[in-house]
Amino acid sequence: MQKNILITGAAKRIGAACARLLHSEGGNIVLHYRSSKDDALQLCNELNQKRPDSAKLIQADLLNMHELEAVAREAALAWGGIDVLINNASAFYPTAVNDVSEWQWDELLGSNLKAPFFLAKSLVETLTDNKGCIVNIVDIHAERGLKGYPVYSIAKAGLAAMTRVLAKELGPVVRVNAVSPGAILWPESELSEQDKAEILQRIILNRRGEPLDIAKAVLFLIKDADYMTGQILTVDGGRTLFC
Ligand SMILES: NC(=O)c1ccc[n+]([C@@H]2O[C@H](COP(=O)([O-])OP(=O)(O)OC[C@H]3O[C@@H](n4cnc5c(N)ncnc54)[C@H](OP(=O)(O)O)[C@@H]3O)[C@@H](O)[C@H]2O)c1
Repeated sequence: MQKNILITGAAKRIGAACARLLHSEGGNIVLHYRSSKDDALQLCNELNQKRPDSAKLIQADLLNMHELEAVAREAALAWGGIDVLINNASAFYPTAVNDVSEWQWDELLGSNLKAPFFLAKSLVETLTDNKGCIVNIVDIHAERGLKGYPVYSIAKAGLAAMTRVLAKELGPVVRVNAVSPGAILWPESELSEQDKAEILQRIILNRRGEPLDIAKAVLFLIKDADYMTGQILTVDGGRTLFC
């Protein structure tokens, strides 16, 4: 798979799993990170040791439009064009409705919805030239909001809507799809053991998924889903059957 792939928030966790799998399939990876410099550097070195000049790093806070545009520009220059944009970067934290600040709204909507849209906009030319595709990482709670996380849920609902809208706008040349994870990795801000147990109880396969489960779905959408656009693949161990 000779594709040049930009992954946002790729330094660790699900983004890094996507980078490793897509790289192992032959992709060149532009790894975007914001603050996880050490993890990003380590991953970039790991990939370049496997295949020289197959990974590059770009640092940016995607809430800053100038930095976002620079990411798109540099990514498009990296190997002469981008074939795939994976919108994975995301802020995730609870927000009580009566206490949420405008800054929190801007951060959650900015990272989960505005940045994916403006990255798509900034890359549309190179994606079109390369008959490329976009994969958005959504969340099962885009459909039915996660209690305690209204603003995050609204942002992901927007990203799901954006997946379908951009599929229409950018078709027939650029395909736009999404992967919707259930419980894969616990958030970096800790959940209580009781919360974790309650989540696990509602998963038919009785366990969390692995980052690799998401990466495999992303790979499928890029490599083998030539006749799919505007679709959202749910990877949740059957959890949505309980919602
Ligand atoms: N984990 C799960 O079980 C789960 C479940 C459902 C959906 N998802 C979705 O799957 C994706 C990956 O999940 P994850 O848990 O691996 O993500 P994560 O660790 O929570 O976040 C991924 C990266 O997003 C980057 N990021 C956040 N705000 C940013 C900003 N303003 N500008 C640039 N980068 C920013 C961070 O980069 P730095 O560390 O470099 O700052 C972070 O490492 C996300 O879209 C998430 O919503 C995950």
